[in-house]
Amino acid sequence: MLSGGGSTLLNLCRAIRDPERAAPLSGVEIAHVISSRADARGIGIARDADLPVSVVPRREFNDGAAFSAAITAVLEPLDVDLVVLAGFLSLWRIPARFRWRVLNIHPALLPKFGGRGMFGLHVHRAVLAAGERESGCTVHLADDEYDHGPIVAQERVPVLADDTPESLAARVQEAERVLYPRVLQQVADHGVGWLDQFHF
Ligand code: GRF
Repeated sequence: MLSGGGSTLLNLCRAIRDPERAAPLSGVEIAHVISSRADARGIGIARDADLPVSVVPRREFNDGAAFSAAITAVLEPLDVDLVVLAGFLSLWRIPARFRWRVLNIHPALLPKFGGRGMFGLHVHRAVLAAGERESGCTVHLADDEYDHGPIVAQERVPVLADDTPESLAARVQEAERVLYPRVLQQVADHGVGWLDQFHF
């Protein structure tokens, strides 16, 4: 599920297609792509990869419950094992069927620098403003709060003295490109039940 640029989706498509990549992905199929915005660039990336796309525009729903129900209605007939958030900027109230079966990646070391409004360069600006010496990315099980839920894996990168939000973003993104496929490969190898060790 995405809302924006789709670079996370593109990376996963490449990881599935190219076994020579640093973090390839096998035994994984992307069944469907859901966008919460009609103008998300990620829709084009999905179509280029011949993936079926559903657009569920957040702005067409007055309340989060109706929006969430519409997302769930798209997912239910698909029989998917896992929902992968890939730059999804809205809140989906996860129904019981998908509890602990939704992963998100966040471009910081959660629980720091997450939550509503903490996306894109906002995250890296906040990390620099706080004088952090390291940042990174976090893959976590999503729950009903933004960037919240049990942590599955993190990758750290240094924050350099002359970093700008953009340079830090690029370094974190490189780490994301490896971390997300690695976690998804674990799920593919061991089954979705592998995720249950991270929540109690
Ligand atoms: C990624 O940096 C990810 O950490 C965060 O949103 C960004 C998505 O980028 N959740 P894109 O929309 O996939 O290009």
